[in-house]
Amino acid sequence: MKFGYFDDPNREYVITQPDTPLPWINYLGCQAYFGIISNTAGGYSFYRDARLRRISRYRYNNTPMDFGGRYIYLRDDDSTEFWSPSWQPTRTDLENYSCRHGMGYTTIGSQYKGIEASTRYFVPMDENLEIWQLTVTNHRSTPAKISSFANIEFCLWDAQDDATNFQRNFNTGQVEVEDGVIYHKTEYRERRNHFAYFACSEKDASFETQRENFLGKYRSWDKPLAVENGQLGNSIAHGWSPIGAHQVKLELAPGETRQIVFVLGYHENPVAEKFDPPGSQTINKKTVKPVIAKYLDARQADASFAQLRQHWESLLGIMQVNTPDIHTNRMVNIWNAYQCMVTFNMSRSASFYESGIGRGLGFRDSNQDLLGFVHMAPARARERILDLAATQLPTGGAYHQYQPLTKRGNNDIGGGFNDDPQWLIIGVSSYLKETGDFSILDEPVAYDNEPGSEKPLYDHLLRSFNYTLERLGPHGLPLIGRADWNDCLNLNCFSDTPGQSFQTTTNKEGKVAESVFIAGLFVYAGRELAAIASHRNLNAEAATYLAESAKMEKVTLEHGWDGEWFLRAYNDFGGKIGSKECAEGKIFIESNGFCTLAGIGLDDGKAASALAAVGEHLATKHGIVVQQPAYTRYYIEMGEISSYPPGYKENAGIFCHVNPWVMIGETRLGHGDLAHDYYSRICPSAREEISELHRCEPYAYAQMIAGKDAPTFGEAKNSWLTGTAAWNYYAIVQWILGIRTTLGGLEIAPVVPKNWPGFTASRTYRGVVYKIVVERKGEGNSVALAVDGVKIDGSVVPPPTDGRTEVAVHCTLS
Ligand code: GLC
Ligand code: GLC
Repeated sequence: MKFGYFDDPNREYVITQPDTPLPWINYLGCQAYFGIISNTAGGYSFYRDARLRRISRYRYNNTPMDFGGRYIYLRDDDSTEFWSPSWQPTRTDLENYSCRHGMGYTTIGSQYKGIEASTRYFVPMDENLEIWQLTVTNHRSTPAKISSFANIEFCLWDAQDDATNFQRNFNTGQVEVEDGVIYHKTEYRERRNHFAYFACSEKDASFETQRENFLGKYRSWDKPLAVENGQLGNSIAHGWSPIGAHQVKLELAPGETRQIVFVLGYHENPVAEKFDPPGSQTINKKTVKPVIAKYLDARQADASFAQLRQHWESLLGIMQVNTPDIHTNRMVNIWNAYQCMVTFNMSRSASFYESGIGRGLGFRDSNQDLLGFVHMAPARARERILDLAATQLPTGGAYHQYQPLTKRGNNDIGGGFNDDPQWLIIGVSSYLKETGDFSILDEPVAYDNEPGSEKPLYDHLLRSFNYTLERLGPHGLPLIGRADWNDCLNLNCFSDTPGQSFQTTTNKEGKVAESVFIAGLFVYAGRELAAIASHRNLNAEAATYLAESAKMEKVTLEHGWDGEWFLRAYNDFGGKIGSKECAEGKIFIESNGFCTLAGIGLDDGKAASALAAVGEHLATKHGIVVQQPAYTRYYIEMGEISSYPPGYKENAGIFCHVNPWVMIGETRLGHGDLAHDYYSRICPSAREEISELHRCEPYAYAQMIAGKDAPTFGEAKNSWLTGTAAWNYYAIVQWILGIRTTLGGLEIAPVVPKNWPGFTASRTYRGVVYKIVVERKGEGNSVALAVDGVKIDGSVVPPPTDGRTEVAVHCTLS
């Protein structure tokens, strides 16, 4: 069953039924001012940091779900009936409800008793505000008197404190109302120099700023007393819960349409110029007033919206494909690329599942996210890399997370996740392959942000590499530390106390437990580093990295091999994890996926054997599960992985992040059909028809789909903020379609299904538009290339040096 449809030409998903299985959300903003918005206008906004600068309030895990939002009520002042055109909060039976989620905007509308209303929500480029453009049309044959009530509940900035510290924050709320604009200025009187505002293009009939006056005692948002009465009380909030509410009265002739523009924004004043007049307690509004006036103009709102559309048009235009598979096309051309930008902007902070008050930017997460967005935002990728590298420790290890606002490593979590440093090599390498900007390697970057410790970025990569070499275990495999990619495989934790963190509690020395996954990662990263070194003519160095990489490969094949597949790890007692000798957890996806992706065992049949075993034991119709059999009880020596009931999360759930490793492995074996089949099993668009089972958005990847051991097999959770976005994008574009960045140019080496007659693509790479036509002449994956009609050797097309800005690449597959 579907709850809507894809409108591909408009790059929108159109939801036609408001009660989706879960709130289906979208993101507003792409620079500093952000918001999440659901299909019924739920969600909230923040400036840069979802915890510390939360602008509006949202109630996570509330009942009914998805409460707190950008709500508009319409009231028929003749009949006194009122409703929400976005369905929530009143949940009235509407006609023609639709929600169009697009690139950085959402439009929600419906009709009720002849009154059509639709609101377009978006954040204009380069501004710290959002626009709600409400259009109301009277389709009745008689005039209509309609009151509109637009409402926002302010958050008192620190979202954590706002939701917990009531003994203080029921006293601090403050607002000002001037010229019809509602200013939220809690804590502005003391140490803050920022405030929020909510403005309206039409003259207010009345306003409200105290929540209880709006709702009435013991009422909720579905039945606000003030809306019922058709009149707001012009209250000024002192403490409790400040809101912004505007009432506008519309008299609509039959067929008449009116538009109201609302602006919700964030503004900062220089500390010395906070008040006007100086010495007063009144907000200085000199610099904010022109901004408000500008965007309350509907023509300006339209122009800003057109600019936003253009922004996404040019970003997505960098990589466009036309294949025989509609799901591949729409995910690559639109939604997966869009999600990659969202994960870059949000990391793992704000979604329906990430409350915005938890994690900062993850070191490994952010390095992997680069794989998906580097072609769309190379300058921002460069900045991100340098920020990440500055949180690396002098040992070569890294803070597991850092705070986006301070850019400092998070001491509560610290380091010691032994895979982290290798991801920096992979992140930097993806940047170099895209841009060819080797100057980044010479950028001085501090360790642990310590002034004076600056070394060229290249030095950071070497320390990353050596970090693993200096931490090898009894078999010569890398020690795992607190965890590797799988945060929940905690082999040194041995936690028996409820609530203890599995990741930061370390009850064992950590000198025994080894990770075969990190071994594969190291082999791969070592080869990337060697390629970078030889590109800089550091040939002796390159040879060393290759030799170390080869040595690790040998150790992996010897001690990381279980006979039919790769082991996962050795535990603190030196026992095997992910072996047929184990009672549970006999085979895992991570080591088998990453080792084959890295090319380990390609020559001696081990890679083929490992992936065949993955196909046999782990692959399901809804994707590939993490391991089998699932852990049926808690193993103290294994940690968090065994804390989840079977089939969920890392305990045999379908972790969509790691499925692409197997897809890539399959392409390395030349198995285009199977690689694309695996791709399709977790592809959100391809799962649209089973939305009542999948439950999450059909246009965004979720972190996890419940595995076959779960009673809810096939149900997705935790959509949007996951490394899944980048890895699936990377797997389909660079390995299945085979349009792959290398240090020397763009490689064209597709491994696509046999029944594809070919496909076309347009890729802008280092300033040159590559117009690619792939034509299948035989069933294999052999590639013959011609560039502008001239045959070339090999599969890499370097950017032309003769000033051509477009090349035609013809690729024959046979
Ligand atoms: C609050 C504080 C407490 C303080 C009291 C009086 O209750 O939590 O520490 O003593 O106010 O200021
Ligand atoms: C989460 C974490 C990521 C980790 C993954 C698997 O997605 O953000 O860092 O690798 O879970 O445990």
